[in-house]
Amino acid sequence: MKAEQMKPIKVDFNNMMSDFIGSKEGIAQRDITLIKPLADEAAAAYKKGRGKGMTGWTELPYNQSEIVADIKKTAGEIIEKFDNFVVLGIGGSALGPFAVFNALCHLRYNDLSKRKRKGPRFFVEDNVDPERMAALLDVVDIGKTVFNVITKSGSTSETMSQYLIISDILKKKLGDKWNQHIIATTDTKNGNLIKLAKDNKFKTFYIPANVGGRFSELCPVGLLPAAVLGIDIEAMLEGAKYIDGVCSESDDVFANAPLMSAALQYISIKKGKNISVMMPYADSLRYMADWYCQLWGESLGKENDLNGQKIYAGQTPVKALGVTDQHSQVQLYTEGPFDKVITLIAVEKYRKTVKIADGCAEYPNVNFLCGHTLNELITNERLATEYALQRAQRLNHTIILPSVNAYTIGQLIMFFQIETAYLGTMLNIDTFNQPGVEEGKNATYALFGRQGYEEKKAEIKASPKKKSKYII
Ligand code: PA5
Repeated sequence: MKAEQMKPIKVDFNNMMSDFIGSKEGIAQRDITLIKPLADEAAAAYKKGRGKGMTGWTELPYNQSEIVADIKKTAGEIIEKFDNFVVLGIGGSALGPFAVFNALCHLRYNDLSKRKRKGPRFFVEDNVDPERMAALLDVVDIGKTVFNVITKSGSTSETMSQYLIISDILKKKLGDKWNQHIIATTDTKNGNLIKLAKDNKFKTFYIPANVGGRFSELCPVGLLPAAVLGIDIEAMLEGAKYIDGVCSESDDVFANAPLMSAALQYISIKKGKNISVMMPYADSLRYMADWYCQLWGESLGKENDLNGQKIYAGQTPVKALGVTDQHSQVQLYTEGPFDKVITLIAVEKYRKTVKIADGCAEYPNVNFLCGHTLNELITNERLATEYALQRAQRLNHTIILPSVNAYTIGQLIMFFQIETAYLGTMLNIDTFNQPGVEEGKNATYALFGRQGYEEKKAEIKASPKKKSKYII
């Protein structure tokens, strides 16, 4: 990657401050000073906790050189042999690969000719809607498709059902060679997928035991799909390394953007802002907002704090897209309840410039657009939204990407991961577990009569029966 593309992302938090949105809603410098001890604690916990417990993700920019080499070699073989690359996974095993695909590939990638694409078509199947599986099978030639089955636990019902369906079709169609169409990405020893991988000799990549699903985009979960798409995965890791460096070097909240963002969100939560809106002004980043929503929701939404007190922590993440949602959600954001923090994502230099043509000189109310570009329009609309939010005294800040590339996306991923970890420390919760998700997984196993889940099945059976009078 060229040096001029490796620029840092920045955060503009002017519109979080009382100087800009007034003292009733805004945050005063004094408020930040007051929580400095908590911010210091979060900064120290990040540094002290590196690589310990479930923070293996902090080390991923540094410890994967052999894995990256294997991924690049495998990606090269896949590009040679296959027309389609399908990820089978859900949650943290799907949202990252899809977000990065959308951020860094052509926005109509699968519609491009093979020559223009330079790699296989790309699909992420993260649901078990039968119509969706049937639709996929309608559009891919299974003999020219490789399936990357991604599951850390190796037992998630959705992913394992997809695996069963696909492996059955592969076996019937391809006989002995079926196993060459599956790549497993899973835990080194736990779960069923690793056993199946060994028994069937699948090419396998590993998710480190100390890396949880939603923090796994920068390990083979995300790196293999990205490499198959021709994305510079080393630049992604370099971007992540840069942000980690900023956070490791400085505990000063005014010099550490993820720490400042976490501190501002913490103060906002205490002021009753229970909703975090993520609104990128770029179609390429719309699925980064989905990825963020999982990270934020699953990490921070916790019933208990670390002392076992019931605190019902969390901030509901909401995704929006600029400018599209200016004509949908922004009315609510500017005039509805004062319960949100809005994060805009700005792109300084889009990868394309599209000029708005002349041709309406006699219509001044249209002509004002002529000769400008869509780039200017989207930028001015973002600035206009910022202004409208500020005028309506709504907390908002902007993450600025110099451009969208592998380096800035690596930064953005690491930025949000570290911000989440900092905020988790400030809220005194376990950021890295997900008991609520596990509860749903266990209830599914029980409903299917899986061995070992008899108690859960009895518990479900004993729950109140639905009353027909409430179904009309
Ligand atoms: O962040 C998480 O841990 C979850 O969202 C998981 O990624 C998701 O439940 C899928 O789990 P697995 O990768 O074990 O199939």
